[in-house]
Amino acid sequence: MHDLVVSFVVAADSYDRFMGRYSVPLAPQLADLAGVAAGRRAIDVGCGPGALTSVLVDRLGPDNVAAVDPSEPFVAAAKKRHPGVDVRLATAEEIPFGDGEFDAALAQLVVHFMSDPVAGLREMARVTRTDGFVAASVWDHAGGRGPLSVFWEAAREGDPDVMDESKLAGAREGHLTELFEAAGLRQVEETAHSVDVEHPSFEEWWEPFTLGVGPAGAHVADLDADEQAQLRERCRARQPEAPFVVTAMAWATRGRA
Ligand SMILES: C[S@@+](CC[C@H](N)C(=O)[O-])C[C@H]1O[C@@H](n2cnc3c(N)ncnc32)[C@H](O)[C@@H]1O
Repeated sequence: MHDLVVSFVVAADSYDRFMGRYSVPLAPQLADLAGVAAGRRAIDVGCGPGALTSVLVDRLGPDNVAAVDPSEPFVAAAKKRHPGVDVRLATAEEIPFGDGEFDAALAQLVVHFMSDPVAGLREMARVTRTDGFVAASVWDHAGGRGPLSVFWEAAREGDPDVMDESKLAGAREGHLTELFEAAGLRQVEETAHSVDVEHPSFEEWWEPFTLGVGPAGAHVADLDADEQAQLRERCRARQPEAPFVVTAMAWATRGRA
């Protein structure tokens, strides 16, 4: 899991171009699921540069929002982008806040990167008041409906043993529910969230994969120039004529602390 954390020690702008383009439109859906509305306090766990933090600030005001992430450049970016938000360098497994401090704890696209997902969700429950919501979403990597599915299909064609993200925690239907229940959450409900993102050209879609972000970026970085070119062309063959729309689906679950 260490490598996965390292692959998020990248510039916030690289993250925005690679994943932020999908996570920004996903964020209001998770905030709705967690019942985030004026007058409440919420924490964004694994905030990255702040796609979901931004929605929480809009709804609650910066004084009522906290955020944690183990990536230093992301914490620096989230602090700069969201003055007044209490952003700290920390993991989900050890959240540096007290018991019951929040009405909701949210983790968007993070559970699959936790070194111990049940411990992380249990910590999220600990910092949430009784009956408040813990909510999390993870792309449907196992079902081949995540935003990176075309990339991983093409990567598997080149190397059938490639470590794609399909086996990660929460990335298949029902698994987030199992993890939430194992963490002691109550009234657990799972749903699906979806985003449509238009890509003006194949290059605009491909280029962010070369920036080293996340497991996909780490995979590209491990290839030599010829292998990268072959992978890019296998991706090109799978994508429709530009402009094209990527529809991406995430499993989203909430439970009461
Ligand atoms: C795909 S990004 C999601 C960022 C943001 N939530 C979003 O929706 O754009 C995954 C994030 O999880 C963070 N992360 C990795 N391991 C973590 C852990 N154990 N606890 C909390 N966050 C973690 C990474 O640093 C990265 O910022």
